[in-house]
Amino acid sequence: MDKKAAGERISQLVKTINRHRYLYHVLDKQEISDAALDSLKNELFNLERQYPELASPDSPTQRVAGKPLKEFKKVRHETPMLSLNDAFSEQDMKDWLERLKNYLGIPNSNFYCELKIDGLAVELIYENGVLTRGSTRGDGFIGEDITQNLKTIEAVPLKLEIENHKLKIPPRLVLRGEIFITKKEFKRINEEQIKKGEKPFANPRNVAAGSVRQLDPKVTSSRHLDSYIYDIVLPAEVLTKAGVKTHEEKHQILKTWGFKINSDNKPANGLAEVFNFRNFWEKKENRDKLPFEIDGIVVIVNDDKVFDAGGVIGKAPRAAIAYKFSPREAETIIEDIKIQVGRTGVLTPVATLRPVEVGGVTISHSTLHNFDEIKRLGLKIGDTVVISRAGDVIPKVIKVLKEMRTGKEKEIKIPANCPFDGAKIIKEGAVYRCGNPKCGARHLQFLKHFVSRSAFNIQGLGPKILNRLLGENLISDAADIFQLKEGDIAVLERFGEKSAQNIISETKSRQIISLPRFIYSLGILHVGEETSRLLADKFFARGKSSGGKQVFQIKDLIEQAKKITAEELQEIPDIGPRMAQSIYDWFSNEKNIEFLGKMEKSGVEIESVKRQAPSVKLKGKIFVLTGTLEAMSREQAKEKIRSLGGEISESVSKNTGYVVAGLEPGSKFEKAKELGISVLNEQEFLNMLKK
Ligand code: IVH
Repeated sequence: MDKKAAGERISQLVKTINRHRYLYHVLDKQEISDAALDSLKNELFNLERQYPELASPDSPTQRVAGKPLKEFKKVRHETPMLSLNDAFSEQDMKDWLERLKNYLGIPNSNFYCELKIDGLAVELIYENGVLTRGSTRGDGFIGEDITQNLKTIEAVPLKLEIENHKLKIPPRLVLRGEIFITKKEFKRINEEQIKKGEKPFANPRNVAAGSVRQLDPKVTSSRHLDSYIYDIVLPAEVLTKAGVKTHEEKHQILKTWGFKINSDNKPANGLAEVFNFRNFWEKKENRDKLPFEIDGIVVIVNDDKVFDAGGVIGKAPRAAIAYKFSPREAETIIEDIKIQVGRTGVLTPVATLRPVEVGGVTISHSTLHNFDEIKRLGLKIGDTVVISRAGDVIPKVIKVLKEMRTGKEKEIKIPANCPFDGAKIIKEGAVYRCGNPKCGARHLQFLKHFVSRSAFNIQGLGPKILNRLLGENLISDAADIFQLKEGDIAVLERFGEKSAQNIISETKSRQIISLPRFIYSLGILHVGEETSRLLADKFFARGKSSGGKQVFQIKDLIEQAKKITAEELQEIPDIGPRMAQSIYDWFSNEKNIEFLGKMEKSGVEIESVKRQAPSVKLKGKIFVLTGTLEAMSREQAKEKIRSLGGEISESVSKNTGYVVAGLEPGSKFEKAKELGISVLNEQEFLNMLKK
């Protein structure tokens, strides 16, 4: 980015961040998530580092927090309540340490790592052991007096036992710590909010901040806040005199004085140990065990003298940093919109993004599902957007930051013609489809489906090779794949004889295929694996068994297809009118019948399956699978259920017999609970198969 463009972007970032910070800190309102705001700040921070002359004194990077609310008495902090700079990656941490080394002239490797609790910072003052003042951070210099409210928190001692300590409690004590709310309380309060018909809070920090700022301490008290104390600010000289040398020791002293400190905090020798600490706590299973939310770790140079020598840069100490967990949301820019044509001809807009890290991986594309989604978001090319990777792996555009617009953004037009072959686009509800059944892009998508694992399972024929074969006119449809010869491929640039041989032997070995797979490979609109299986068993192959063998070839399929009616198809359970129509249409199309004939000529054969006496153990039971099974793949589990006479369905309904829930089950699990369907864990499921 050149300086002029950077200047423009910086001023917009500053405006946007300031507005959101004001909403968040002063008005307790939140329009975008913490992660999204952090991400905006991070971009600003980096741009200002690149062009330091463009960083103005009123930039949010130079500031601590929002202005105090008017209702509370204002109090001045004797020493400013600082903030921390953020690191998001190991590289950020290495850079931080390098900058610190350059500044101090000595390297550092002894750190104290703390959990960064998602709450709000407070200052506590004790005089002669009595809590006399508690305040919020405010803008770092002036905060709000919330003594009354802090007194309601049981974790905050009202009076300290002055005597009997190894280090006598000084007459005047200034401490800092974090006020927060447990996950359990958070849940309880939100349930109450919903019951009252009010909006639930977005995160535990909002509840803690909102509760501590209540004018009526009774309300604060009802919220059951909690706190950890993490620093002794004053009197520094008493600590020095007593020989206290590290941040860790300060925590121990706080503990002896009767304050609640976090026992998961620990020293780390070298960055590798810091990374271990952070990676341990980033893991969901470890975080789940904590009663409160954390959003990262705080890393502090443990030696107090070195910490002090580091001083302050902007509004943060040089010798401490917040190493955040990978945010699940980030901001980026929509660089372009490309239209993908799917296997069934549906046009899907896909956004090309300025690459951004979300939840630990770099994202550069995001599907927008359909054009209605673009309309709903009000999206334009060039827009700054918030991307989220919630729970699963698929990144989504969740918000457009319209205030970041420059006026140069471009409207996204729904194409009237297919971007690949110019054929007219047909609109069906929210769906747009290429009108040309031979569209090249559709064709490639179809070929990908045809060779995919659940269809012909031809490994080694990836999209690039398929595209190449199409481009060289070596194949014009899927049936041609089986007529390819080694020599056709070996002569192509970048292909050797060996890889040509592999491809041909792979296609040959896949020429014999089961009937359900064969039907699935045809890519009939709305027909997935389960429906293919139903069609195979209940329609095409019925009555075709002879001498314990199922003899059924493509010519039989063609013969049956000629007699097909949509009504008959609908008699098959799970096949609705829409699906029946689609199957009927496919087999009524002469071109498709020709294609089937061509497959037969190319040597494709339908596997002869021995018909075993069907097992009845699970007869009449419909199973739905969700989550990951450990002992077997989902396909194996389905095979097993079918072999015992059971049926599979993809969705939970009142007809479902059992829902088998593996690791991290999805919404089907919730649905089962809702409908009162029996849920089996993996072990129970395995037992049922054995019985
Ligand atoms: S030490 C100079 N330790 O994170 C500030 N802060 O982004 C020293 N926080 O304002 C802060 N847990 O509200 C520290 N164990 C912890 C913390 C913690 C949460 C918050 C605190 C602070 C913010 C800095």
